This record gives sequence, C-alpha cells and structure tokens, in this order.
Amino acid sequence: MRATDAAGGETVRETAEYQHAKLRVEELRSQIAYHDHRYFVLDSPEISDADYDRLIVELRELEERHPELITPDSPTQRVGGAPVETFGIVEHRVPLLSLANAFSGEQLRAWHARASRLIERSDFAMVCEPKIDGLACALVYEDGSLVTAATRGDGMRGENITVNVRTIRSVPSALRDKGQGTRGKGQGARDKGQGARDKGKGNGDLPARFEVRGEIYMTKSGFERVNAERGEAGEPLFASPRNSAAGSVRQKDSRVTASRPLDAFWYQLGWWEAGGGTREARGGKREVGGGIWRSPGTHWEALGWLRDLGFKVNPNIQRFTSLDEVIGFCEGWVEKRESLDYEIDGIVIKVDDLGLQRQMGAVGREPRWAIAYKFPPTQATTKLLQIAVNVGRTGTLNPFAILEPVHVGGAKVQMATLHNEDDIRRKDIRVGDMVIVQRAGDVIPQVVGPVLSLRVPGTRRFSMPKRCPSCKTEVVRNEGEAAYYCPNRQCPEQRTRLLEHFVGRGAMDIEGIGEQLARLLMARGLVRDGADLYGLKDRREELIGIERLGAKSVDNVLANIEASKRRPLARVLVALGIRHVGGEVATALAQQFGGMDALMSATAEQIAELPGIGLVIGESVAEFFSRAENREMVERLRSAGVNLVEARGAAREGPLSGLTFVVTGRLERLSRNEAESLIKAHGGAVGSSVTKKTDYVVAGAEPGSKLAKAEALGTAVLDEGGFLGLLAERGISV
Ligand code: IVH
Repeated sequence: MRATDAAGGETVRETAEYQHAKLRVEELRSQIAYHDHRYFVLDSPEISDADYDRLIVELRELEERHPELITPDSPTQRVGGAPVETFGIVEHRVPLLSLANAFSGEQLRAWHARASRLIERSDFAMVCEPKIDGLACALVYEDGSLVTAATRGDGMRGENITVNVRTIRSVPSALRDKGQGTRGKGQGARDKGQGARDKGKGNGDLPARFEVRGEIYMTKSGFERVNAERGEAGEPLFASPRNSAAGSVRQKDSRVTASRPLDAFWYQLGWWEAGGGTREARGGKREVGGGIWRSPGTHWEALGWLRDLGFKVNPNIQRFTSLDEVIGFCEGWVEKRESLDYEIDGIVIKVDDLGLQRQMGAVGREPRWAIAYKFPPTQATTKLLQIAVNVGRTGTLNPFAILEPVHVGGAKVQMATLHNEDDIRRKDIRVGDMVIVQRAGDVIPQVVGPVLSLRVPGTRRFSMPKRCPSCKTEVVRNEGEAAYYCPNRQCPEQRTRLLEHFVGRGAMDIEGIGEQLARLLMARGLVRDGADLYGLKDRREELIGIERLGAKSVDNVLANIEASKRRPLARVLVALGIRHVGGEVATALAQQFGGMDALMSATAEQIAELPGIGLVIGESVAEFFSRAENREMVERLRSAGVNLVEARGAAREGPLSGLTFVVTGRLERLSRNEAESLIKAHGGAVGSSVTKKTDYVVAGAEPGSKLAKAEALGTAVLDEGGFLGLLAERGISV
C-alpha cells in the first residue's frame, strides 16, 4: 500500500530491503567461497556448474542493485576489472630468498653433512616438496582478507599483481566466513585430510596480518590450449607453461589474466604480525585480536595450517627424517613428474623445525636450511639444421627436425618430431631458427617452437616435398587430412616400415629384428613382407653371412619367428598394418569374427556395425582385404602355420587384468552396464555376487545387500569417484 506511505516509511522499507540484501550477499559469498574451495583446491565439487553459476548470478544482481556492497574480494570481482595502467612496486618486508641447487644425491649428502655440522645433530626432519616451475608470489592477508599479491622481483621489491591474482580461482580472497568463523575451521577443515593436516590444533584466531608464499603456474594442458588458440589467431606462441604463466599475471587487463588457466600452490608462511610488530614464522604464542594464535613450530605444521585455511598446498609433499628416504623421494620424481599436469623442475628439501631454520640462517640470498634438488632439464634451445622427411608404413610423410646436438632431460638429442606441415607452418618453424626442444619421459623429443627473437634474416617458411623422398612418386594429400602420402604401395621405405611394424611389440613381437636388420633383409631381397619371415628358416646359411650376425643370433631370431606363429589373432591383425586398426580395434574384430576368414569375407557395413568400430574402420578393413596382394599375404601366413583363429574364452589382457569387480547400486556418471563393459574391456572380470575372490565392490546409491556382504568380508569398496580414480590411475580414460 504504497500510496499512503510517508517519506520516512519509504526509507525504513529501503533499509529493510538493504539489510536483507546485505545478509544475502554475505551468505552467497560464503557459499561461493566454500564451493570454490571444493572445486579449485580439493578437486571435489559438491554442486553442478549450473548451480554454481546461479549463485554467482544472484550475487552479481544484488551487487548491481547495491553497488556499495561490492568489496574487492567479492567473487564477482575475480572475472577481471578494467585495465590498470602500471604495476606498483611492493617492498617485501622479509626478502624472498632463492635456493642453492643440488644436481645429484651426492650433492644432497654434502648439504646434509654441512647442515648437521652447523647444528651439531643429524637427526632433523626434512620436508620434501615438488619445486613448481612457475613464478613466485607473496600474498598478504589483513584481517583475513587478501590485500596484496606481489611477484618476487629481485627478492626485496616485487610488482604489485593483486588485481590479477584475484582472478585465480583457487586463491582465497577472504579467509573468514563472517559469522561462521574461519572457513578453515568450518566446512573446509572437514574435507578429506592430506598429509600435513594438523588436526585439532585449536588456533584461537588468525594473525592480524601475515604473508603466504607460493608459486603461480599454468597447467600443461591449459598451456597447450592457450597456445593452440594463439596459433589459430596468428599470435606468437608461448615457449613454456612458465613463460605463459609469467606473461599472464603481468597483463595490464586482468580480464586477460582471468581467461588464462592459472593456478597456484602455496609453500611457505612468510612473516606474521600479531598486532605489535613483524615476526617471521618461528613458533610461539601471541595474543591476536582477542584470541590466542599459536604460531607453528614446524614448517609441516605451517603447511597444514595454510591448507586448513583454504590455501592450495601441494598434495605430494612428504616429511622424512632419513636422508636416504629424501634422496629416494627426489629420484622417484624424476620419472613420475611426467604424470603431473604441471611442470616441476626439482624437489625442494627444507629443514622442518622452524627454530633450527633460524639457527641455520642464510648465506647471502640462499638459506642454509633448504636446498633444491634439480632434475635434468626437459627443454633446451638449439639450432634447427634441417627439416627431413621420412615415410611411414602407411605411406604418410613425417617431417622431423635435425638439430645441433643438445642435452635435454639427461639425454643427447639431435632429432625431434615435427608432426606435419600444418603444425610447422602454424608454429612458423624455419630451418636456421633457434628452436626449443622438449623431452618428456620416453616420448620422442619434440620441437616446441622457434625463439622468434633470435631469428636471423633469410629464413624461409617450410613446404612439404612434392615427391616421396624414397621412391620419388608424386605425393598426395587427402581432403581434410593434415598428412601427405606416398601412394606407391611398393615404395621400399613403406615396406621396410611395415616389416618393422610387423615384428613390433603390439604386433607379432619378434625379438631380435630391429630397424637395421629389417632394412638388410629387405635390401638383400630375403623378404618382401612379414609373411616371408616364416620362410627364413630355410635360408639359415645366407642369414649367417649377413653383417655381424653370428650363428647363435640367427638361431635365436629364427626361434623367435617360430614362436610368433602362436600369437593371438588380434596381434596378427595389428601386424598386417591395416589403417586405423590398433590393439583395441583388433581385439574387438578378433572377438566378434572369431577368425580371419569370417573377417575377410565381411562387408564394410557388417564390420562397422560392431560397437565402437564405425564406417571409417569398416571401410578401411574391407578395402584392405579386397586387395589381391593382401589376401595372398594372409594365405602365406596360413600355410606357414600362423594362428588365424581367436582362442575362445581367453581373457583379455589389460590394466585391470587379474582383478574382479562387483558393481552394485545406482551410479551417477556411468550406467552399471557401462561400468561393467569398461572393466571387461580393460581385462578385469565382473562378478554377480560378492565372494572372497572379489577385489573391489563398486557401490552407487542404494547398494543393498552386496555392500553389507563386502563389509562383512572386508572387501575394498569404491564409490563412483573412487572407481573413476582407479581407472584414471591405470591410464583408462572414460
Ligand atoms: S621455497 C627459502 N618451495 O623456486 C625458500 N620454492 O629456486 C625459497 N619454488 O623463488 C623458496 N616451488 O619461486 C620453495 N615448494 C617450493 C617451491 C619453490 C617452486 C621456486 C620459488 C623460488 C625458487 C627458488
């Protein structure tokens, strides 16, 4: 009844609405902060993206109606505001130190011995942490709110990147859920525990101000995505995730930063201030804002405290007292680092006790209480001498780089793959360029891209040769495909590659025939294809004459060839080198058709009907067997006695081999059928009831008596997330 309201009534009503909005805004921020933590820090969201978006939309609407309620730490401000002209300078209250490096276990021992002499004991605990390859950042919190984020700079003064760091979703803007205590002690602290959590510590409050240090990084997958987009837009590519992260936080327009896949791990409590003066984190009790804040006595405890407050602390940290274990941990990560979606360039080892840290002090910029064990680098810069092209077994032309030799990741590299012409042109890699070469684990080294600032004049864009480098036949390119082909099926290079493939691991697996011998056998006319290998036993004497092959090696190779006759049908199908037929497809074909003859007489459509096969594969298989020379090769395999039928009932091999699962209850992401097919497809067995032989029970909603049985037998029970985690751990993508 508005008409009768006096002006004063209007104000009262506005105030009531305002009060209501204020409360709701606070409630929404606290809910969003909670879900951000679940999603970005714990990787375990509780609500759908759509529901999350609804919270954001509601908050934004309320803030639009009441702009005075907007605070810099509101989640709506994370998306990036107006461009800032320049970055201010932040003086670090306590300098950000750097680290001395160790490149071997021996050097770690030397560091440990020096440290032990200094403090006159050697039984001290150490914390090992992945050394994240990003850029260091220091955050300052005041009364639980993020007030400054700064780069390391020269260690004394850094750049103010607060606006940009606010766009990183896992960085908590506010540590208190006002009215509900700190988030760490609310919902966050109840989430799944990780190593460094210090349960029940009972800190009374937060220090009035404190600093947290860590590393901002870009994920490897995010980096690939950003570069692909930049490539498409014709923009220069970033050389590495680290460069990309550094470039992203220094953006003048924080909307650009917000669009980049940045994240951060926090690894140190810098200084803290109880209200009186600045202290480095060194243990002890302080009166803080009416409560008692007990500062941590160890680094491990500090990390647990940070994690409880909602900071993302690396889950792979570990605490040891034995140096041998520390060295084992460091060496273990040399290979394992490839499994992470972010780059690490070493392991940081820190003395755990903060009192001992203080006792040990620093030499110049490097603390004596910490050291970085550095991995051999995986990237290096070198000169691209030539782009050569080889021919694959299906006739594809594969360009590769010939490089000035360089050490990368502990190995000498002088060749690297270049994928295809489009990729080379997209990255604008030119002969004569200085290029970045990358090695990851056992993978063939790759050329990441050119260092454009080092390009010399006179370089030219790359074009594929018009003729096959082996047989000089004119090359072709199918519409919509990136690769060029040599269409000549008699091309000697193609045939050699096909022979190498035939004897390879996933195919007939004949040990003793490598690239060199395959080439020799071809060149001497001893074989034309894989089937001819089975006739070699009649040419033993000729073989013994071949370069450096003794009688013993020849007999070994011949025995291996004989043994390969018993390989399962799927392996034979792989060995034939039919386009698009790898291990998975071959297994499906072998199981469905049961034998080579049935498959050879099937039409493309019949093959395509099989689950997961489709017409492209169907046509490729049918086309292969329509060719006289291929049918004739199969006949030669048959007369040599090679197995061409599927052994029925044979269990599939796979990452779940030897494991029996029972799936029960209603799953969310997969149907029960899908879960069971996945298990079977990867070598596992599916049981209908829980017995002592059951390894895992996968239990969805309303699991019923099977769950009770599993519990009674002590069988491992996985929820859907746990099951998907197990699959992911074993390299099975869903
Ligand atoms: S501790 C005195 N811990 O490595 C302690 N640093 O080479 C100094 N870094 O500037 C830092 N991960 O940017 C520490 N878990 C970690 C780290 C780490 C990456 C970086 C940091 C530092 C550089 C020193």
